[in-house]
Amino acid sequence: MDRIPEPKSRRDERIDYRPAMPDDGAAIAGLICQAGGGLYEFLFDDLIPFVRAFDIVAAGVGMSDSPLSWENCLVATGGSAGVVGVANFFPADSISDETFLSLVSDRFEHIRPMLQLLDRGSMFLNAVAVAGNYRGNGIGTRLIERAEARALEAGLPRLSLHVWVDNVPAIRLYKRHGFTEVGIAELAASPRLPHRGGSLLMRKTLLRSPD
Ligand SMILES: CC(C)(COP(=O)(O)OP(=O)(O)OC[C@H]1O[C@@H](n2cnc3c(N)ncnc32)[C@H](O)[C@@H]1OP(=O)(O)O)[C@@H](O)C(=O)NCCC(=O)NCCS
Repeated sequence: MDRIPEPKSRRDERIDYRPAMPDDGAAIAGLICQAGGGLYEFLFDDLIPFVRAFDIVAAGVGMSDSPLSWENCLVATGGSAGVVGVANFFPADSISDETFLSLVSDRFEHIRPMLQLLDRGSMFLNAVAVAGNYRGNGIGTRLIERAEARALEAGLPRLSLHVWVDNVPAIRLYKRHGFTEVGIAELAASPRLPHRGGSLLMRKTLLRSPD
């Protein structure tokens, strides 16, 4: 059997940050699915034959009026690797029950506590994810910093996010970055969404740098 090569160290590679473009859609969708930690598979898998959660997320990324839209994403790119990280964010106030009307009702009901625990008035960081062999190089931190700057540009004084309580590395990163815990959305146990402890709402108040 062929051995899978170890990922190379990426620490010396130049990383660029830019607003996403339509052609980034597939890479963004893959990373948003990773950030969801199984959420999108829980919501969308097996609804339509031969259509995966990834396909539905990719369709959302390709649309203009979807929260997942590429227009709401910043990407990190690394040379020939292309997109290696993404931040997807939009005003929390743009989320309403109507956003989720198309969801199958039992799946919607299952995650309703998450949807109801929002920091209204903030910019909502729906997803931040970095490709596996690029993690631990500060890319996630840079993406969060850029999302903060975009929130301030949009006149929103806070950045908020949901993170699974058992996603210890991500929570450590957010706390180090100044996010505090606001509340926990308890979700019923489900073999299709295997997270312990529910989903944590965190937020950070943003300070405008003096002109
Ligand atoms: C969470 C995630 C986005 C963080 O991205 P990242 O690029 O690894 O983040 P950073 O490199 O900025 O920070 C991660 C760690 O690397 C360290 N680090 C930061 N800059 C570094 C650098 N230049 N060199 C080495 N290490 C560095 C940080 O101190 C941090 O350490 P910690 O693990 O003790 O907290 C990434 O792990 C990921 O994609 N996870 C899967 C998806 C996910 O869970 N997303 C969050 C959903 S809420």
